[in-house]
Amino acid sequence: MINLIIKRTLPLALASYLMSLPTYAQTNNVKENATAAFETLKSTVKEAVTTLKEVVSNEEVPKKGLPVNITEETFSCIRDMTPVRHFYVDNVLGDIKATLTAANNPEGAIYPAGSVVQLVPTEVMVKREAGTSPATGDWEFFELQVDETGSTIAKRGFVDVNNRFDGNCFACHAPAREPWDFICESDHGCDPIPIDHKMTGALQRSDPRCGDAVPESGDWMALFKLKTMVSIGLTKKWFEETF
Ligand code: HEC
Repeated sequence: MINLIIKRTLPLALASYLMSLPTYAQTNNVKENATAAFETLKSTVKEAVTTLKEVVSNEEVPKKGLPVNITEETFSCIRDMTPVRHFYVDNVLGDIKATLTAANNPEGAIYPAGSVVQLVPTEVMVKREAGTSPATGDWEFFELQVDETGSTIAKRGFVDVNNRFDGNCFACHAPAREPWDFICESDHGCDPIPIDHKMTGALQRSDPRCGDAVPESGDWMALFKLKTMVSIGLTKKWFEETF
């Protein structure tokens, strides 16, 4: 009897087991396929995002406006520029009117591309074409060496140019970003520089690139004070670097 049962049911059981296999396999296959498809989708999306990120970070910020080509020939006698209050402006693209409009706006304004701003003969800010350097508002900073024969560019750049006292141009001018477009003047929030307008005036009147100096009374004393300060500053730096 038992034999009979085994004989009859075993094949049945086996048959139904075998019949169920394809369904099982199918279900599993679908699952596997779905998982695989999902994994592929995930990695495709990941790849796409990575590629997109790379594209975005490699993409050059589009520059707008005329190229502002700056060489040391660009800079000459500071007094040939246009005076505004106690500093001088110019525009290498010829739009001095737009530069003056920005400089004279009592509410502050964005200077137009090509603007050149100088307070002393050796430090210059030049407004480059839009998109050149978003961090610095497209200002390029220059530290010049000047003598009777003209200007030499000692340093130029955007966020990483330091003046001869090791002060970073951009960092110090940054508080004046809004609404003064990084122009410090006397009261736009920048850390003060130890040089007053008597001294900056004396430096402007004795710019060696202009030929003969046109001194006013007190200039000699102002320049003497300044030279002493500079040499103390530089000596201090030398001490700090040496010891
Ligand atoms: C310690 C802060 C400080 C550093 C560093 C500094 N500046 Fe200035 N700068 C000032 C201040 C403050 C004024 C305004 C002075 C005034 O008119 O009384 C000024 C004025 C100027 C001006 C005239 C327009 C304006 O903003 O008023 C130019 C151009 C300029 N700096 C360029 C530079 C350049 C280029 C460098 C670097 C090589 C530099 N500065 C580094 C604080 C700084």
